[in-house]
Amino acid sequence: MTTFVRTVSDLRARVDKWHRQSHKVALVPTMGYLHNAHIALVEAGKQICSRTVVSIFVNPRQFGPKEDFEKYPRDEQRDLSMLANHQVDLAFVPSLEEMYPLKFSTVVSVPSLTQTLCANTRPSHFSGVATVCAKLFNQCRPDVAVFGEKDYQQLQIIRHLVKDLDIPTEICGVPTVRETDGLAISSRNVYLSKQERARAAQINLILAATATRLTEGHEPAKELTNALSQLNKKVGYTPEYLELCDAETLAPITELNTPARLLTAIIINRTRLIDNWPVMPPTT
Ligand code: PAF
Repeated sequence: MTTFVRTVSDLRARVDKWHRQSHKVALVPTMGYLHNAHIALVEAGKQICSRTVVSIFVNPRQFGPKEDFEKYPRDEQRDLSMLANHQVDLAFVPSLEEMYPLKFSTVVSVPSLTQTLCANTRPSHFSGVATVCAKLFNQCRPDVAVFGEKDYQQLQIIRHLVKDLDIPTEICGVPTVRETDGLAISSRNVYLSKQERARAAQINLILAATATRLTEGHEPAKELTNALSQLNKKVGYTPEYLELCDAETLAPITELNTPARLLTAIIINRTRLIDNWPVMPPTT
């Protein structure tokens, strides 16, 4: 099992000591139930820094009232042994009370990036994420924090947040890790039946093919309509959204002349899946 601490003061004592010894520290924030995509974040952190901390905290503030907070998969012992196998130096596993003591009341939000995409159906989600990440950055004071590109809107929000709040942590984004059939790895994939799982694998195929056609210069509006009907037909559910956005500001775009992102969210029988694909503008 990897060494773990449960309090902010123990976390700080370790990280401060490493900093005094001139180590660079990477933080990988997670909600546990670790899988290969988390390990890719750990490995990315290890490439840049000489010490790695993984936080494990299922953050209630980013779940809506009807979402799966209670049922979200958890397995602390398994997580800690997995982290030991990957030579993680420290896990931070705070209790609910450690993170949110009785009179806790601050909310961090990034309105310019949370009026769109996932925020339309999960209105309080990103302020929950931003609040817990701001706390984690202050608690751990990492040199680098590592996030997956699968949660692309989250990644852009975190980048904006550290800039706005002058948090001296560099944010490192890691490309989405996929199953062999291309489905983006997610803790929530365990909710899918075998049949649903097969349908879910169509999502990335449709996004990838659409991204290719867009980069070849095909008209965005037409490609989005086509991709939407493919998602309906092949996945069997209507996406919550399918949008082509500016890669940094997440503003919707109709003409492709800057790096963009094609993003979707789709609920397959109560399991909400998200995925996105980079789209480069045509070269000619
Ligand atoms: O991406 C996640 O797992 C969570 O949103 C995060 C960043 C750990 C915050 O709780």
